[in-house]
Amino acid sequence: MGWNSWNKFGCNVSEDMIKSMADALVKSGMKDAGYQYVNIDDCWQVSRDASGNIVADPQRFPHGMKAVGDYIHSLGLKFGVYSDAGSKTCAGRPGGLGHEYQDAIQYAAWGVDYLKYDWCNTTTQEAKASYANIRAALDASGRGIVLSTCEWGTAKPWLWGQQVGGNLWRTTGDIQDRWGGQMKWPDGSCCSNGVLAILDQQVGLASYAGPGHWNDPDMLEVGNGGMTDVEYRSHFSLWALLAAPLIAGNDLRDMRPDIQDILTNRDVIAVDQDSLGREGERVWKDGDAEVWAKPLKDGSRAAILLNRGSAEREITANWQDLGYPDHLSAAVRDLWQHKDLGKFTGKFSAPVAPHGVVMVTVRP
Ligand code: GLA
Repeated sequence: MGWNSWNKFGCNVSEDMIKSMADALVKSGMKDAGYQYVNIDDCWQVSRDASGNIVADPQRFPHGMKAVGDYIHSLGLKFGVYSDAGSKTCAGRPGGLGHEYQDAIQYAAWGVDYLKYDWCNTTTQEAKASYANIRAALDASGRGIVLSTCEWGTAKPWLWGQQVGGNLWRTTGDIQDRWGGQMKWPDGSCCSNGVLAILDQQVGLASYAGPGHWNDPDMLEVGNGGMTDVEYRSHFSLWALLAAPLIAGNDLRDMRPDIQDILTNRDVIAVDQDSLGREGERVWKDGDAEVWAKPLKDGSRAAILLNRGSAEREITANWQDLGYPDHLSAAVRDLWQHKDLGKFTGKFSAPVAPHGVVMVTVRP
């Protein structure tokens, strides 16, 4: 769990902004809720020096990257940076190709804890080999560094991500701050994904995730303004059910209380972080109504009743679809109302708002 600069700020990153975001992560209660990483995405780097060392933007990061890392660490948080397996990053900054070991030593010297490694400008490179290479370089640096691979799902990284030492792997193209499906980018290339488009691309991937190696359906858009609070609650709930990395992507310095409540909902976060480490799956679908379920460590289930449609709808989670017998009596807790709803036998039903979820745990 953490925060990343890309979804809200794009290339507009700086030392001051990152430090103030780290402060806000603490002040907002997000650190206490479990968010740890402060990750600088693309555009912190501008060139390489005569020896090939990567150079941070001297205007935007006047005290250098180690100072940023030291500040983040002084707050008890962890420090993440971004690079790319190819010759250039997606925003055209110098990539890591041919400098993997040199960069890994530099990252370790800066105190980097997390590396997101993108896939732009990789021409004929093979994804699995390229990510194995950066993993070996990170390991050789002697510092434990989380590797977040960002290959967008093209080469099915869920099949080899764990084997090459990836800790999380993007399963799709980029998320955009909207509810619906896929849309072409302004330049005509394909495609950005709304929440539902990403969700649908997770079907069938659950068995590849587990502790230390996760499917990554991309970072959160909660609080960025393109969706309603109902939709943001659904987005956050679904990502938690998917055991996804919860990487916030909004401006934490001026969050509305409603957005803060979403990002720090401890009942929902507990589902995401459950130590069994199982990713949830879609267990039932009828048109716009779906039920998603995730087994938890204590034998209970988290379940989401999801209404993708534009009219309120009653949705039922049948115990059989959760892997329980019909006759079982189980305690249901609503994770957004923070309320125990009592015992139910065989099924649980609730009206669900358009684009909304009802998220519960079912505990025998
Ligand atoms: C790609 C990634 C994004 C982001 C940008 C940065 O599009 O998928 O998450 O890192 O590059 O340029």
